[in-house]
Amino acid sequence: MATNHKLIIGNCMDMGEIPDGSVHLAVTSPPYFNAPFDYKNLFKNYDQFLGVLRKVARESFRVLAEGRIFVLNIDDMLVNGDKFPIVADAIKIFQEAGFRYRDRIIWKKPDGYLRISRRSGVILQNPYPMYFYPDNLLESIIIFQKGKFDYKSISKDVREKSKVDTKEIQSKKWYMTLWEMNNVMPNQVLEKDIAAFPEELPYRAIKLFSYVGETILDPFAGSGTTMKMARQLGRNSIGIEIKKSLIPIIKEKVGFNEQKRLDKNDDSFELIERERGWIK
Ligand SMILES: C[S@@+](CC[C@H](N)C(=O)[O-])C[C@H]1O[C@@H](n2cnc3c(N)ncnc32)[C@H](O)[C@@H]1O
Repeated sequence: MATNHKLIIGNCMDMGEIPDGSVHLAVTSPPYFNAPFDYKNLFKNYDQFLGVLRKVARESFRVLAEGRIFVLNIDDMLVNGDKFPIVADAIKIFQEAGFRYRDRIIWKKPDGYLRISRRSGVILQNPYPMYFYPDNLLESIIIFQKGKFDYKSISKDVREKSKVDTKEIQSKKWYMTLWEMNNVMPNQVLEKDIAAFPEELPYRAIKLFSYVGETILDPFAGSGTTMKMARQLGRNSIGIEIKKSLIPIIKEKVGFNEQKRLDKNDDSFELIERERGWIK
C-alpha cells in the first residue's frame, strides 16, 4: 500500500494544516532547552521553552485521534551547573493539555558514549566529598495517551498486518522500562548539527503504538528520522520543522531525493512551506 509523507516548514506551535483527530501517533524530541553544544541560547529563558511545549501539547491533543499515543523523548538539562526539571514540567504540561501520563521509559546509551569528562573527572582529581559531578548517559521517553483506545476499532486484516514480532520484543527487551539503544554517532552526514535520535526509537514506538496505513506525526522533525521509519513501516507521516535549510536533508533521509523518486514505488512526498514562522 502506498504511503504519503508531508513536510510542513514552520513553527509547530500551530498545526493549522492538520485536521482534528487525524493523527494516530506522535513521536518527537524537542530541542533540548539551551543544551550547551546543540542549542545554546535558543530560548530567551526557561519559561519561553515551557511555553513552546505547552502550545505543542495542546495542538497535539487536538490532532491526535481518541485513544492515541504521544511519545516524547526529552530529559532534564544541565545549564551552567543547574539542572532544569524538564521531565517533571513536561509531564505536568501534557497532563494540563488533557493527556493521561501512561509510562516513562529510560533510554540508556552505551557506557562508551561518555568518556570520563572534565566534569565527572573532578572526583578523580579530588577524591573527597563534594567533588561529585556525574555525567548523564540516560534520556527519558515519556508516553502520554489521549483518553482510551478502542481495540475493536481496528479491522482483523490491519491488526494482523501490524503484528509485532515477539522474538524481537524478547531479544531486545522492549518489554522493560529500560531501553538500551545506541545513540547517533557524531560523524553522521545527514544528522550533522541536528540532535537526531536513533532510528530504533521511532521504530519501536511506531511498531508498538500504531497500525499499518496510519499517520505518524513528528512536530520537531529535525533530520526526518520519524518520517523515514514511518515510511519503512508502511505508515504515512507528517513532519513539522522550523529550519528551512533541513528540507534537502529530510528529503534525502526519507528517500525522496530526485534520483530515488524515479525508481521507488507509489509513495508520495508533499512539501508545505508556510509564508512565515520558519527560520533559515
Ligand atoms: C532535537 S531535534 C529533532 C531531531 C529528530 N528527532 C531527528 O532524529 O533528526 C529538534 C528539531 O526541532 C526543530 N525546532 C525547534 N523549534 C521548533 C518549532 N517551534 N517548530 C518546529 N520545529 C522546531 C529544530 O530546528 C530541530 O531540527
